[in-house]
Amino acid sequence: MEDTILVTGGAGFIGSNFILQQMERSSPHLINLDKLTYAGNLRNLETIARNPRYEFVHGDIGDRLLARSLLQRRQPRAIVHFAAESHVDRSIRGPDDFLRTNVDGTFALLEEARAYWTELAGQDKSTFRFLHVSTDEVYGSLASNDAPFSETTPYAPNSPYAASKAGSDHFVRAYHHTYGFPTLTTNCSNNYGRFQFPEKLIPLMILNARAGKPLPVYGDGQNVRDWLYVEDHCGAIATVLERGKPGETYNIGGWNEQRNLDIVEMICDMVDEMAGCGEAPRRRLITFVKDRPGHDRRYAMNATKIERELGWRPKETFATGLRKTVRWYLENEEWVSGVTSGSYREWIETHYAS
Ligand code: NAD
Ligand code: TYD
Repeated sequence: MEDTILVTGGAGFIGSNFILQQMERSSPHLINLDKLTYAGNLRNLETIARNPRYEFVHGDIGDRLLARSLLQRRQPRAIVHFAAESHVDRSIRGPDDFLRTNVDGTFALLEEARAYWTELAGQDKSTFRFLHVSTDEVYGSLASNDAPFSETTPYAPNSPYAASKAGSDHFVRAYHHTYGFPTLTTNCSNNYGRFQFPEKLIPLMILNARAGKPLPVYGDGQNVRDWLYVEDHCGAIATVLERGKPGETYNIGGWNEQRNLDIVEMICDMVDEMAGCGEAPRRRLITFVKDRPGHDRRYAMNATKIERELGWRPKETFATGLRKTVRWYLENEEWVSGVTSGSYREWIETHYAS
């Protein structure tokens, strides 16, 4: 059998960056199991679509028969589980899909993966890994003077999205504790970079700024997030997969706390510089809108453990990473118009109506 890794949710923002990064390295065969929800986009993977080391399988992680036959047929040595509903605002408007995919879907995948792993023998069994990709949002919200989240911070999820990710993290933990199933969990801070669906802060602001549309900042704009360039996150996941200890969780972050308003202002200035000054100064487009219900004030990650134990640190600075990201969205008109039609426009119209 070929050396194979099963990736779930590989057509989304982080998953597709991970697959492309892995394909550039001398890497195993990759199978991408993705349902292609509104957030899944095979265009991200066009450059490798015909590569014999890559296979796309269209399906739901909750489809146990599909997962079972895929595991039997391809005999992967690891599963890297990205598939999820990932947008907090959508989870507030309609939590059902979050429970279905993030909790039930992860549970179904865990069950099938455990059954598959139980039948493995020898080295195949001892080296198998299930890597669960999670978020810092499970830890809740920090006050301005609180220490950053560490791996021992108690869970306190505040949004339906965070609650569903926390639920899945607990199942993953329990599968290691109860069955000895070789899990790894990563909890990462906010990512940014190419291929992020423009419902999230950074791409939404870049595209609105370019178009001269209002830039909707929730509340007072002083909420803080810890931002990490997506390629750094993908590198961290590869490191944990290679060297992480089964049963452990690893916090991943950029040591990069930023207030939302500061980010939006940086984006305005970069778009003024790169897209011409027709709409400049774009800072005048900043519009304070009604706050997100239950909006967490601050996230910050203590990523000391992954640095100390596995030797990983982010490479990109926020200034260079944000610049690359702004440039990418401005230069990739076709990708942008591909995702900003239909259901995307409906979401924007409904969500920002008031
Ligand atoms: P995304 O929304 O861009 O992509 C999710 C992908 O999962 C899409 O391709 C979608 O089609 C697929 N998917 C959804 N439901 C599915 C199902 N039932 N079966 C199969 N595929 C399904 O998400 P993202 O931003 O790339 O996030 C990936 C993972 O990383 C998620 O688990 C998320 O919780 C986690 N995470 C994200 C961030 C962030 O800043 N984006 C930060 C930390 C952790
Ligand atoms: P988002 O990208 O949705 O990520 P998350 O909620 O997972 O952190 O939002 C990042 C921050 O930006 C968050 O504090 C909410 C804020 N925000 C706005 O102010 N306006 C917007 O239109 C969006 C989408 C987010």
